Amino acid sequence: MDGNGRWAQQRNKRRTFGHKAGVDAVRSAVRYARETGIESLTLFAFSSENWKRPAEEVSVLMELFSLVLKSEVKKLNKNDIRLKIIGDISGFDSKLQKKIADAEALTASNSALTLNVAANYGGRWDIINATKRLMTLANKGELNIDDVDETSFGQQISTYGLPELDLLIRTGGDHRVSNFLLWQCAYAEFYFTETLWPDFNEDMFAQAVEDFAQRQRRFGLTGEQIMTQDIEPKAC
Ligand code: FPP
Repeated sequence: MDGNGRWAQQRNKRRTFGHKAGVDAVRSAVRYARETGIESLTLFAFSSENWKRPAEEVSVLMELFSLVLKSEVKKLNKNDIRLKIIGDISGFDSKLQKKIADAEALTASNSALTLNVAANYGGRWDIINATKRLMTLANKGELNIDDVDETSFGQQISTYGLPELDLLIRTGGDHRVSNFLLWQCAYAEFYFTETLWPDFNEDMFAQAVEDFAQRQRRFGLTGEQIMTQDIEPKAC
């Protein structure tokens, strides 16, 4: 969800004004995903590196997470949307941790859409965390070195249980991954747009999905194999 700061600066406002406007774009994206039957939507709300931003901005973002949790969770629940926070939750203050736990518990059995909010998240953190979990199992004698493979590793990653990542959209004009879903994006399609996040509306989301639908995903096979044989391409 890149571009909030620039969106605000273009209007001679403080960066935090852009984050507040970004919440409306979050609502549109969630609505679009819910209405079109997308199974899982992950939003990068706060990276492990974002703590280094000016204290005032970090504090407004924390306040915003709290407010959004308070104001939106009932609506998410009513719309059969499951909320999951991925990231190192222990980095947040205890009140926010409690709100996150309550929101996740309330929506746990919903199944129309899983909305993952990546908060205090980093792709490298995710991989290290999964490694630690595997090592804990190994230390307890519940895992042998030969059991370490993509399946057992994937079971420890934060998005375990969700479908493979198909499409990664980055708004704001930069062409990089910035430590998002590194393990998960192995076979994802990338879509970059100059649009700043607060301007990213449902039509733009539909445009990204349309673009994605035109791509030939080969997963290591040749184009001919995909076109001529009855081989179902899979990520793993
Ligand atoms: C990146 O834009 C955006 C963020 C670091 C924060 C995103 C947070 C929200 C949209 C608010 C709430 C979201 C949820 C799901 C509760 P940037 O500040 O890096 O923009 P810039 O590149 O223009 O500086």
